[in-house]
Amino acid sequence: MNAPDKIFTAPGTTRTPACGLSKAHESAVAQVAGSASYIDDLPEIKGTLYAAPILSTVAHGRLLGVDAIAALALAGVHDVILAKDIPGDPILATFTHDEPIFASTHVEHIGQVVGVVVADSVMLARRAARLVKLDIEALPAILTVQEALKAQSYVLPPVFVKRGDAAQALASAPHTLSGSFEVGGQEHFYLEGQVAYALPLEQNQWWVYSSTQHPGEIQHWVAHALGLANHAVKVECRRMGGAFGGKETQSGHMAVWSALAANKLRRPVKLRMDRDDDFMVTGKRHPFAYDYTVGFDDTGLITGLKLMLAANCGFSADLSGPVADRAVFHSDNAYFLSDVEIASYRCKTNTQSHTAFRGFGGPQGMIVIEAIMGDIARQLGLDALDVRMRNLYGVEERNITHYQMKVEDNILEPLLSKLELTAQYRRRREAISAWNASSPVIKRGIAITPVKFGISFTATFFNQAGALVHVYTDGSVQVNHGGTEMGQGLNTKVAQIVADELGVPFERVLATASYTSKIPNASATAASSGTDLNGRAAQFAARQIRERLVKYVVDHEGCAPEAVVIRQGQVHSPKGTQSFEQLVDKAYHARVQLWSDGFYKTPKIHYDKHTLTGRPFYYFSYGAACSEVAIDTLTGESRVLKVDILHDVGTSINPAIDIGQIEGGFVQGMGWLTTEQLVWNDKGYLSTHAPSTYKIPATGDVPEHFKVALWPEPNREDNVFGSKAVGEPPLMLAISVLEALKDAVAAARPGVVRLDAPATAENLLKSLKV
Ligand code: MTE
Ligand code: HPA
Ligand code: MOS
Repeated sequence: MNAPDKIFTAPGTTRTPACGLSKAHESAVAQVAGSASYIDDLPEIKGTLYAAPILSTVAHGRLLGVDAIAALALAGVHDVILAKDIPGDPILATFTHDEPIFASTHVEHIGQVVGVVVADSVMLARRAARLVKLDIEALPAILTVQEALKAQSYVLPPVFVKRGDAAQALASAPHTLSGSFEVGGQEHFYLEGQVAYALPLEQNQWWVYSSTQHPGEIQHWVAHALGLANHAVKVECRRMGGAFGGKETQSGHMAVWSALAANKLRRPVKLRMDRDDDFMVTGKRHPFAYDYTVGFDDTGLITGLKLMLAANCGFSADLSGPVADRAVFHSDNAYFLSDVEIASYRCKTNTQSHTAFRGFGGPQGMIVIEAIMGDIARQLGLDALDVRMRNLYGVEERNITHYQMKVEDNILEPLLSKLELTAQYRRRREAISAWNASSPVIKRGIAITPVKFGISFTATFFNQAGALVHVYTDGSVQVNHGGTEMGQGLNTKVAQIVADELGVPFERVLATASYTSKIPNASATAASSGTDLNGRAAQFAARQIRERLVKYVVDHEGCAPEAVVIRQGQVHSPKGTQSFEQLVDKAYHARVQLWSDGFYKTPKIHYDKHTLTGRPFYYFSYGAACSEVAIDTLTGESRVLKVDILHDVGTSINPAIDIGQIEGGFVQGMGWLTTEQLVWNDKGYLSTHAPSTYKIPATGDVPEHFKVALWPEPNREDNVFGSKAVGEPPLMLAISVLEALKDAVAAARPGVVRLDAPATAENLLKSLKV
């Protein structure tokens, strides 16, 4: 399966015609012009109704009754759909099977959906939903990780990973230090809110439009809730207006709710979440709390580590198991930990069920080891970059992770050294010290932090993909694959890959909507592996068609297959050159199959999900960022002044898209760690449920000096066109911002720095006061 990518390239050329070029995003023009369709833009079927959710107002309680009289009395309100209206299983078809479709006997967080109101218009449905009265007898609620740990309230059992003897290593370490801190969650804030549109078809078959990263899961959930077989449900998604992990599972709820309403009323039903409701209902990035004790020598080398990570999972498991696993897998980040003991708790609280978010636990794992690096440097009076360099994974030795995977593609040392030079880290460090010495109020800080992010779904079976490539009789090409487009440019990259593999110009290839009836059983587009998986599957499909076309020429000309080169829409053979269209026309009339499927599964990966040992990742993506910040020690305000990034995407398939992903990922990570604060009050009510109180970065927050460079080396593993995944890893480069902020705090006052994230003005002021 994994033959190297070579055949189409004309002799003597190394650069492929479409891959490697900054082709514009396939929807860029349509999106700018407003003609790219999202679910809510699609023409509506006659008779369409609109649903709006009824939300629990209590964090934990017994649901004694639902009074919908006032809602139903409004003209234009058709019905209220509750748990009793579910023909299939009332529990969602999640892996853990622990989440009711609609709360019926108990409510477990404020915002949990009890049912939906269906009406003639969206606004009417929403207004009516607020008139539904819930009779809830309140029970004690668990709202924080600390309370959950104390009560041993878990959605899944704890996981312990251990290597060597951490206790012994700590006992004999020349230095030790301990710390604890917390990192907040993050709202996805996709521009297009959650939405689904369910259409009943003939003979109890269904068509569902869903803004989802995982059409196959929508199909499965809807079928399960309706009590139907999967084949009765067809799901389509042309694109999402952003997802960021928030539509990996959470989009399923809207689809199931609208399908249940459509099933009862036998009318098409659309459910588009109001932004505030979206905040209240759907899960976010998992907030984490940490405790650690680390032992180290005079040079800052870590000799032993005990680490506790507690994830706030909310009221149900959702993806919390694999998220918390990925946090454990990334709590080494770039560093070799010889003697280590990690405890990972998956805490159940009465809040929204937290879910996938760009990085998928990786950020929450890495942030603690980076905090430890900063602590050690400050304790020893060393430069933090030196401490980081001292602890990096080695190439020949010190290269086995705490989960027993050998790091074979390590480029950390050269990558960090290069960034240190290009960002002029040492010179700037001196300049910052000089500035701080003469500036009593404004303090500056700087930090370089690395990223080593494992690529592959931690659930190994997800690492498979399918694609269909069609060549039509006019030589135009359509590619369909199991991935979804959320703005990340997957369709563009897949079209580039297909164009090159077939040997046609990029413009001849059209990527279509994701559709469960074309590619079945597709995995979520997630874990940054969209192009690795679907791009490869599409490449294999295109390769088969090309080979059939080549064979047609060989059969007619009697030449060797190597003598036929199809490139940029021209077919070169010993008898001359013809256009791709001419060849396709002849092949069609000779009854050559002009379409094909392709299938790919990632090689080499395996791991034991109980001990978390093995090779969960095919390879690692690397990167590093140097961030410089300034803080106002009187107000706690901060700014990110300068950012230099050196990031590894292997051989880039599309540098413009990759750089866009790096910039966007970094800024999103910066938002998570600086301004985006989720505040649940003492009743468990999320008070920051709108852009008025929840602050994502704006253009003005993007650093004025923001330079991104790409590492110039192909993926050392055999991956599509030598590329590497790019979607998530850059988010974690933003940890450099938090470390730089701590560096600035340390310049303002002596002693240990404790800074909870997000580093809002309040948290920075607290940190300055300690
Ligand atoms: N980029 C945009 N513009 N919008 C998104 O929703 N999601 C991110 C990342 N980049 C996202 C994005 C997340 S969480 C993942 S896992 C990857 O894209 C998924 O796409 P890929 O695997 O094709 O990179
Ligand atoms: N990343 C994203 N989504 C996932 C993963 C993962 O590693 N595993 C299961 N779903
Ligand atoms: Mo991304 S969090 O894997 O959808």
